[in-house]
Amino acid sequence: MSELNTIALKVLSNGKGILAADESTATMTKRLDSVSVPSTPENRLSFRETLFSSSSMSECIGGVILYDETIKQQTSNKKNIPDLLQSVNSIPGIKVDTGAKSLAGSPNEKVTEGLDGLRDRLKEYYKLGARFTKWRGVYNITKDHPSKLAVHSNAHALARYAALVQECNMVPIVEPEVLMDGNHSAEDCFKKTSEVIKKCFEELILHKIDLTGVILKPNMILAGSESDNKINGDEVAKLTVECLKSSVPSEVPGVAFLSGGQSEIESTENLNLINTVNDTNFIMSYSYGRALQQSALKHWAKNISDIEGTQKVFNHRAKMNTLAAQGKWSKELEN
Ligand code: 13P
Repeated sequence: MSELNTIALKVLSNGKGILAADESTATMTKRLDSVSVPSTPENRLSFRETLFSSSSMSECIGGVILYDETIKQQTSNKKNIPDLLQSVNSIPGIKVDTGAKSLAGSPNEKVTEGLDGLRDRLKEYYKLGARFTKWRGVYNITKDHPSKLAVHSNAHALARYAALVQECNMVPIVEPEVLMDGNHSAEDCFKKTSEVIKKCFEELILHKIDLTGVILKPNMILAGSESDNKINGDEVAKLTVECLKSSVPSEVPGVAFLSGGQSEIESTENLNLINTVNDTNFIMSYSYGRALQQSALKHWAKNISDIEGTQKVFNHRAKMNTLAAQGKWSKELEN
């Protein structure tokens, strides 16, 4: 077993998942604005440190994706954040893309940037304790999108990123996110997501990536958020598994879904249903941002010194998702 494969399995085995706490300062400011807390480095750290010190971490959260600011911060008792994570048996990860920008040649679509200087940044993050990384490509569905250009450009960037990350002995999370926004059908989502993922693996293979040391972070197959033809959870699960089965090479050890704007319960329920029908060898777990943090953030914002209360809310969501990643969740457990 390769070193990279061991890391990927450590992050995702036994129902463990990933806490995506890598919101950029701009995104975190939006999240904090929404609960009327000033977005200062101290407040951003305080919320994140509260989650990272929760009792569910060692049992549920195999890895945390950090943002550049956080990986360099210290806790209130002067511990480096990566050391805090290691002490609860969770592997530190880091977002390394620098964001999605307008794609020249198709200005209503985006291509993710961040390759310039990446090799040196990766070395620095490795020294700080990171053992896996994340890069997100983003695609929207309309009549004409994603275009071949967007599908190709983002897959190429993801593969160049993954090659540099593996060269530096870290596991790349490859995240091609087909957005929920729009009124497209679940069939459209299935078709476009399949095309996007297949292209990503075509490029990953061309760039000689060790697929046993990759984690795929895809969207689930859903109808658009404004579609009148929503599908139920059983259909989401069936289509999602079918899509991954036909697009992802069997060497890949695991898939960690993004929540993408689904509610907390929906994200958990769909993950559970996916695991009840999963007939592949892929581990199917979670790498949630909003779906793990939303309720905890709301609770924390009411009284930021109520660490225990905030952790209780977070622990519940972490445990529910870890049960769902094993197909052992049920609605009654939410009460
Ligand atoms: P959400 O689960 O909130 O979609 O965030 C996951 C993520 O990391 C997006 O890049």
